[in-house]
Amino acid sequence: MMMPAQTATDFATRKPSKAALQRGVLPMPELEYTDEIAAETAPIYEQVKHVIPPMEWPFHAPYVAAINRLKKERGAVILAHNYQTPEIFHGVSDFRGDSLQLAIEAARSDADLIIQCGVHFMAETSKILCPEKTVLIPDSTAGCSLASSITAADVRELRERYPGVPIITYVNTSADVKAECDICCTSSNAVQVVESMGTDRVLLIPDQYLAKNVARQTDVEVLTYAGSCEVHERFTADEIRSYRRSMPDVQVIAHPECPPEVVDEADFSGSTKGMIDWVKTNRPEKVMMITECSMADNVASEAPEVNFVRPCNLCPHMKKITLPKILDSLLYMQEEVTVDPMVADKARQAVERMINLKS
Ligand code: 13P
Ligand code: SF4
Repeated sequence: MMMPAQTATDFATRKPSKAALQRGVLPMPELEYTDEIAAETAPIYEQVKHVIPPMEWPFHAPYVAAINRLKKERGAVILAHNYQTPEIFHGVSDFRGDSLQLAIEAARSDADLIIQCGVHFMAETSKILCPEKTVLIPDSTAGCSLASSITAADVRELRERYPGVPIITYVNTSADVKAECDICCTSSNAVQVVESMGTDRVLLIPDQYLAKNVARQTDVEVLTYAGSCEVHERFTADEIRSYRRSMPDVQVIAHPECPPEVVDEADFSGSTKGMIDWVKTNRPEKVMMITECSMADNVASEAPEVNFVRPCNLCPHMKKITLPKILDSLLYMQEEVTVDPMVADKARQAVERMINLKS
């Protein structure tokens, strides 16, 4: 089957990145679904067959094969966040995980070229932790409502308003914001980070819901900011109660970016990694993951006996990353993520302080 020429961007009209000038561009490969491509990608299809119908695979397979070949040629590693679609998550990635795991893997890897399949703050965090490496994101407009809810100037204002109160930033923020904060946290270690500050009061920014969920687990007073995740704030306690009424045997697990009344309805709450680990350990018969939709698809591939029931909400930013755009990244070395070195140095301190906390 001949595939349509799908490039995400018209390279001819773009200024080549510094990385493209250094490493050159590569020609577009054939994107035909041949018998050879079918055979080469069959083991990958086996992993995703529960969530990708057979008639869709011929559209993904030529990209999967081309990307896997080109990443070796380029010496690149591909990092995929848990919210990436299964053809990316299982098809082309070398490392998968939550936002922090990915940045740590970026730093550990020997590769000096990182392709970040996730949103922009994640790519920035990788660049902060490994400034000497080239970090590419297939679509630099893949943002995050939390990261865009607060600026470095807002943090400076908070410092003036709350002198002496440590400022903890959720990892879902820009490098500029991290550079103004004392320490970083993720949804899996936020309580530990809050308690490590040794103060009666902290500011935990910018996610108001994460902060409220954390505040209920500690005696430290947690002040917050008005940011929220546009995906998780849409869930309501009412909808979960109504699902429970129709499916009394369902287990409900929720991300802590959900409002506290939603978390109250859940049997477990944790980071994306925490939720995946919970499913793999507990193997419930029926589970509802109160988070982004691709999470359930990705775990379903590894736990096919578990029945995943909706609701879920799509993150429009995560969904901007596609196989054709990843291919373009590898061919044209786009889109390069840069962070001002002075900002990166300060932001790195906040991230490393968190990584170095004893668990
Ligand atoms: P995790 O750090 O749990 O992967 O969450 C990132 C995110 O964007 C959740 O919405
Ligand atoms: Fe940001 Fe929410 Fe999307 Fe995560 S799910 S990247 S927090 S908008």
